Amino acid sequence: MKCVKVPLRELNDTRIKLMEIGKMNMEYRIKAEADFGYIPINDDIEGYEIVDIELEAMKRVPHNFSELLEDELTSEEIEDLRTSFDTIGDIVILEIPDNLQDKKQTIGDAALKFTKRRSIYMKKSAIKGTTRVRDLEFLSGIDDPITIHKEHGARLKLNVRDMYFSPRLATERKRVMQSVEEGEKILDMFCGIGPFPIVIARNKDVDITAVDINGEAIRYLDENIKLNKLKGSIKTYAGDIAEVSKGFKCKFDRMIMNLPGLAYTFLDLAVDLIEDGGTINYYEFSDSYEQGIKRLETACEKKNKKVEITNARKVKSTSPGEWHVAIDGKVSDE
Ligand SMILES: C[S@@+](CC[C@H](N)C(=O)[O-])C[C@H]1O[C@@H](n2cnc3c(N)ncnc32)[C@H](O)[C@@H]1O
Repeated sequence: MKCVKVPLRELNDTRIKLMEIGKMNMEYRIKAEADFGYIPINDDIEGYEIVDIELEAMKRVPHNFSELLEDELTSEEIEDLRTSFDTIGDIVILEIPDNLQDKKQTIGDAALKFTKRRSIYMKKSAIKGTTRVRDLEFLSGIDDPITIHKEHGARLKLNVRDMYFSPRLATERKRVMQSVEEGEKILDMFCGIGPFPIVIARNKDVDITAVDINGEAIRYLDENIKLNKLKGSIKTYAGDIAEVSKGFKCKFDRMIMNLPGLAYTFLDLAVDLIEDGGTINYYEFSDSYEQGIKRLETACEKKNKKVEITNARKVKSTSPGEWHVAIDGKVSDE
């Protein structure tokens, strides 16, 4: 190893000088003997005595997720993994591609270490079925799927194995909450653990009816109502919205329809239940807005109502070329 040899009393000043001019080789330890010290360098440097001796390599302590995995994975693979992280409370859910499955334990342990969360799970399937949940495999930390996620000041308790929740909709929920007016009567047709109702009712004095076919999700929503200080009120129902809605005695100023794969099949019901001048927050998976706008227009035409599209936006990407899109429509009687 190429080193600068200096009398021991000059060791510290020389070390600082070499570091300042970027010549010191930080991957090796400085060696001090009885009269001389040896400082590892990257290049030759004038004005010093240069010698070649053996030095001990520094032990590298990885400082982040990338550094820990850099010997195992390419930087592209690390970046893809990093963007797959979903952090829900003290749980991290990762998507590990097929070609890295044999390294899943190393990846899970690295994620545990560097996210400093409690539990790491891996996605084992796509989101599926009526209740929109996915299979998860426990990877590292403590195998406990119950957590409390904080979003815009709201506390949302859930079991990540048994009910749908996506932290990636946080901006959308805030946007909808900000568009709500005080006093609105709102129906969340597919509420899950209640992130829309809780975020809205924490901020606005509104009257929300929240329905979900997943009874466990409703049980958590009932807990979430108690966990949060609400300005508005939330009534919950466990059941199929098509059945539960038969008992409703009123219409609503706003309908939240976040079941993007199937919400279109409930548009007729939504149009029946919306007040004159009310807003439908409609969601679907699509590569454009046209299909959703057409579906809203058709559902309104069938009931002799009009819809004015007030906003359309991409909430998140779901697969290449496909989006979870949001369309807001103001519905009025003709
Ligand atoms: C995509 S998740 C959205 C949950 C919640 N709105 C959120 O943003 O986290 C859709 C929810 O619709 C519920 N669901 C599916 N079909 C339903 C139906 N016919 N009636 C009521 N809820 C239903 C599922 O159980 C699931 O919780």
